[in-house]
Amino acid sequence: MKKTILITGASSGFGLMLANKLHKAGFNVIGTSRQPEKYETKVPFKLLKLDIDDDSSIQAFTKELFSLTEQLDVLVNNAGYMVTGIAEETPIEVGRAQFETNFWGTIKVTNTLLPYFRKQKNGQIITVSSIVGLIGPPNLSYYTASKHAIEGYFKSLRFELDHFNIKVSMVEPVWFKTNLGNHSVSTTKHNISDYDSYRQLAQAATQKGMNEAEEPDAVVSTITRLIQTKEPKFSNPVGKMTGLILFLQSYAPCMFESSILKSVKTAK
Ligand SMILES: NC(=O)c1ccc[n+]([C@@H]2O[C@H](COP(=O)([O-])OP(=O)(O)OC[C@H]3O[C@@H](n4cnc5c(N)ncnc54)[C@H](OP(=O)(O)O)[C@@H]3O)[C@@H](O)[C@H]2O)c1
Repeated sequence: MKKTILITGASSGFGLMLANKLHKAGFNVIGTSRQPEKYETKVPFKLLKLDIDDDSSIQAFTKELFSLTEQLDVLVNNAGYMVTGIAEETPIEVGRAQFETNFWGTIKVTNTLLPYFRKQKNGQIITVSSIVGLIGPPNLSYYTASKHAIEGYFKSLRFELDHFNIKVSMVEPVWFKTNLGNHSVSTTKHNISDYDSYRQLAQAATQKGMNEAEEPDAVVSTITRLIQTKEPKFSNPVGKMTGLILFLQSYAPCMFESSILKSVKTAK
């Protein structure tokens, strides 16, 4: 029987590419968007309405999902966005909203679907985290914190789900070409002049990362492989530099720190 795969945030970026690829490969793909009416005629897979920030939207979505299918094999928690900016200048409510989507939203969708996976005694949850769930670059404090939080949550949860035969994996991409930058949120209302010159450099370093981003195929292939593997790994960093970055962080922390400092100093 072909697997049913649910992908949150399938209107753009990784989610859209993954949904198209899996649909083409013969999987039963269901994607989500906050505005499916904007995209549904342009995609070959089913696109349902879901705002992961909104409890009533999650409830309505779950009802619609199980009116369409009795079977769910894989949940890909992909929906998310990025807050950029100097931490002290970023209002707390902007940081809270980041957690509402990337952390709480992801958990709420997972919790809503877990009873179905437990009943089946089978399932797979793949969550798109980020390399910044494993390291912490400047100018991305809230985004980094939200991805560290989701990493920690699933790191623990996977053991609780093991005896239900529910597999849990994280995917940790570096910068890839999607609409993440276009959809990112930053605020200039609370700028502190002490940061003026540093802010310019830090923003330039973030922009440089996005400008030099890789094509998203590697992320899509990694998730596809995880779906087709019997024993998927928990942590799956993706991107040309991930091996070096994580090696330096673990085994040469001084070099790691100075390379981050240097990347900001030389960004412009
Ligand atoms: N691109 C990168 O370099 C990179 C690197 C590491 C990790 N990531 C992660 O990859 C995931 C996908 O991002 P992307 O790069 O593909 O960016 P993207 O092109 O901006 O796509 C983001 C998707 O998330 C959905 N979304 C955003 N907020 C949502 C909400 N509150 N409720 C439901 N859906 C929501 C959007 O759908 P609608 O707007 O249609 O609702 C859209 O389909 C994110 O979790 C991101 O943090 C990206």
